[in-house]
This record gives sequence, structure tokens and C-alpha cells, in this order.
Amino acid sequence: MLKVSGVHTFYGAIEALKGIDIEIGAGEIVSLIGANGAGKSTLLMTICGSPRARQGRVFFEGEDITDLPTHEIVRRGIAQSPEGRRIFPRMTVLENLQMGSIVAQPGSFDRELERVLTLFPRLKERINQRAGTMSGGEQQMLAIGRALMSQPRLLLLDEPSLGLAPLIVKQIFQVIQEINREQKMTVFMVEQNAFHALKLAHRAYVMVTGKITMTGTGAQLLADPEVRSAYLEGGH
Ligand SMILES: Nc1ncnc2c1ncn2[C@@H]1O[C@H](COP(=O)(O)OP(=O)(O)OP(=O)(O)O)[C@@H](O)[C@H]1O
Ligand SMILES: [Mg+2]
Repeated sequence: MLKVSGVHTFYGAIEALKGIDIEIGAGEIVSLIGANGAGKSTLLMTICGSPRARQGRVFFEGEDITDLPTHEIVRRGIAQSPEGRRIFPRMTVLENLQMGSIVAQPGSFDRELERVLTLFPRLKERINQRAGTMSGGEQQMLAIGRALMSQPRLLLLDEPSLGLAPLIVKQIFQVIQEINREQKMTVFMVEQNAFHALKLAHRAYVMVTGKITMTGTGAQLLADPEVRSAYLEGGH
């Protein structure tokens, strides 16, 4: 479904991605783990066209999307829940979800809203609350919900568990699994929480300073001694 081939991305003279190759099949949950500054967010953003790959190509369902403007990439069926959530704090929950549906099929709004509010009942209770006054966990639910409103076929999640209490983390990962199983949603997820990310994933990649250093099934990487000592020491 998604193929990233030999991608190099720069910030000025700094090479953040140094030749990335990854593939994501339809229906998979694929996780990307790696230390702070490895380039994980840069990869998700490069897939969405900002920043752009300076070298290499990104293909989505066979089409070369490397040079498309971001809104065209979203229109093709890729949605991102960015790191730090980036919800619109002064808008209500409902207005944030409306923003997410801008590129969706006309007439789909009510059905998608219903679906998102069923996945996240908390958002339903807070539908008219200003998003910026919600808790971190609620804002994360909103960021994912907003991404889902565009009816993506590929959902990109950047650190969905960041800064959240264990119980909320569990809920968020359950919802991700549910979307994948029931809506056949393909998910590419960046996570610091390597234990959860690998447990949930069908396959995963490890990134170290702009390069993919390891790949395998979630279970293989969970059992790998190198992965364990680098990312899983001290339990999870
Ligand atoms: N806008 C920017 N301008 C310049 N350098 C940047 C910019 N964004 C990221 N970088 C640099 O690119 C590298 C990769 O950053 P990136 O945010 O992709 O890492 P990450 O793996 O997502 O890290 P984290 O786990 O901390 O979120 C880092 O060295 C970072 O300092
Ligand atoms: Mg990041």
C-alpha cells in the first residue's frame, strides 16, 4: 500500500533521513521505534509531503506521491495524527472534527462523526467543549478522531501514547487495534513506548539516526536482545 524507497530528507544542511526503505501492506499495523531525534517524525511528515524528500520516492497504492502537495496526499487517503496532537485549542471538539472532514467525501460527515464518537465516547460527552481545555488523553483521542474524519485508508500516528497515564494509553491502543480489525484500517505508528508498539504491530522497524537498522514481526523484535536492551530495559 505504501512504499518508501531510498528517501533522504534534509533540514537545511542536516540530513535527517539517510536513505529510508519501508513497505506497508494493506491491513497491517506497522510500528516504527527509535530514540529521540532518530528521524521518526520526519519520516511521517515526509510521507505527507512536508518536508519533502530531497532524494528517493514515496508511492501510495502504486502512485508516486513524492511531489504532491500535502492536501492532495490527504485526498488520496493518508491522514496523520501528528506528534504533540496539534488540535485547534480554541475550537470545540465538534469543530475540530469538522476540520478533519474537509477532504472527505461530501455527505459522509454524519456517518464518520457517529463512528468516531462511538470509538471515543469521551469525545461525545465533550462535543461542545473547547479542545484546548481538555485533558491530554482527551486531546489525543481528538487528534486521532480528527484524522479518521477524512476517511483515510492509511492512518499515520506519531506518538499516540506520549505523556498519557497507563490506563489511557491502554484505551488508545485498544482503539487503534479495533480500527485496524473492524475497519481494515492500515496503520503506521511511531512510538516511544516500544513495548506497546511492538506488541500491537504485525511488523515493525527500528530507526537509528536516520537509517532503518532492523525490521521483523512485532514478536521477533520484542524478543530480540538488542531491541530489548536498547528500548525495553526496565520492563516497559
Ligand atoms: N524543523 C526542523 N529544523 C531543523 N532540524 C529539525 C527539524 N525538525 C527536526 N529536526 C532534526 O531532525 C532530526 C530528526 O528529528 P525527528 O523529529 O524526526 O526525530 P524523532 O525520531 O521524531 O524524535 P522524537 O522521538 O524526539 O520525537 C533531529 O536531529 C532534529 O533535531
Ligand atoms: Mg518525533
